Amino acid sequence: MSPAPFKVVFVGAGEINFGSAEGPWNHSKRVESSFGQSLSVLGIVDPDSARAEKQIELKKAAGVPGYDKTAIWPTPELAGEALGADCAVDLVIVGAPPHFRGCAAPPADLDLRLLGALPKTKHWLVEKPVSAAQPSKLAGQSKVLEAYNASGAVVGCGYMMTALKGVDMIKKMIQDKGLTVMGTAARYYMAYEFATKPAWWNKVISCGPIVEQATHLASLSLLFGGAARLKSVRTHTVEHSDAPGKLSKLGFDEEATVQPECRIPRYTSAVWKYKAGAVGSLTHVVGLHGNTYDTEFEVICDGTTFRLVDMYTPTPRLFIRQSDQGAEVEVHAFANDDPFQTQIDRLLAGTPSCTYEQALQTYELTWAIREAGERERLEDQDE
Ligand SMILES: NC(=O)c1ccc[n+]([C@@H]2O[C@H](COP(=O)([O-])OP(=O)(O)OC[C@H]3O[C@@H](n4cnc5c(N)ncnc54)[C@H](O)[C@@H]3O)[C@@H](O)[C@H]2O)c1
Repeated sequence: MSPAPFKVVFVGAGEINFGSAEGPWNHSKRVESSFGQSLSVLGIVDPDSARAEKQIELKKAAGVPGYDKTAIWPTPELAGEALGADCAVDLVIVGAPPHFRGCAAPPADLDLRLLGALPKTKHWLVEKPVSAAQPSKLAGQSKVLEAYNASGAVVGCGYMMTALKGVDMIKKMIQDKGLTVMGTAARYYMAYEFATKPAWWNKVISCGPIVEQATHLASLSLLFGGAARLKSVRTHTVEHSDAPGKLSKLGFDEEATVQPECRIPRYTSAVWKYKAGAVGSLTHVVGLHGNTYDTEFEVICDGTTFRLVDMYTPTPRLFIRQSDQGAEVEVHAFANDDPFQTQIDRLLAGTPSCTYEQALQTYELTWAIREAGERERLEDQDE
């Protein structure tokens, strides 16, 4: 007897679900490798039907199982009508842009519409960031969290760095040695020379580099530091108008295409206090030439310090210094680590590496960092 089909619906026919030349993200590839012949992609929800059609054609042309009967629906409601309210979809992957998600009212109420249309879904994987609106009661981000909780499904968010093997090793050593986190320090240095997508450079489109990009490191910070005291966040920035903020290798005409008030900071340095007493810090830089990013995440405890690097490569490395035992630095390399795969495996096992609630806390922290930087600029101008 062949196994029961594993039923998947993709929301968004774009890069996160179907891959791009720029990075390792590609959720369809991971579910294909997990389920092979038993995969059944019921459909793709995307208002851009031509793009969805193209993705299905490419899968069929490559002989990938699971796409023979894949439907295309422009809206969640049409998906719900076609499948019926009793359809227990095994996994829905929500990879639409954040501008359509995370809030209680149109046009950003996609989660609520999907929950209404596919109420029997067993697992949801929702991409980061969970919203694109400034967090507020009015926008209703917490209502979306409540709705996911009330659905009874397992809900995870696409903060895949929380599924890295190096992160597991840090967690285990902290637990085994009974350590308490004293601080976290994250840095995300972006290589900008060939980055020309308008969204990267316009904070009105993408909410800026902390909310859109450094958010992955904010999620790791909260994983180790616990909840942050948002009022404690202090941020300083180097802006495009500051002398050190002039970039010599811009690959597009920023002057002509981005209004001054919409331009992104070149350097962001933030510090905050966690509720549990530790201190967190994050530095984001738009300053590397070429196209290789540089990211690093440190966890500092009494007697033991951890430094995780190369998180975007297939071989992340972790440096551990157990100074309670000596001065030597251990190096652990995790070859072929695929956090995107682990993220899906854990979600389906009922233990997501990042819950929707944790993702929402990350979102709130990143906005607090951005807003503290903007406030500081205004105070600066008053001096
Ligand atoms: N975790 C990661 O490493 C990672 C990597 C890439 C993207 N992402 C995230 O994934 C999300 C999507 O990014 P992308 O690069 O795939 O974008 P994309 O622009 O390539 O694709 C988005 C798709 O969503 C569709 N869409 C728009 N409105 C929709 C709606 N209301 N319902 C359904 N579909 C809709 C668009 O037509 C488009 O086809 C973003 O939140 C992004 O931050 C995460």
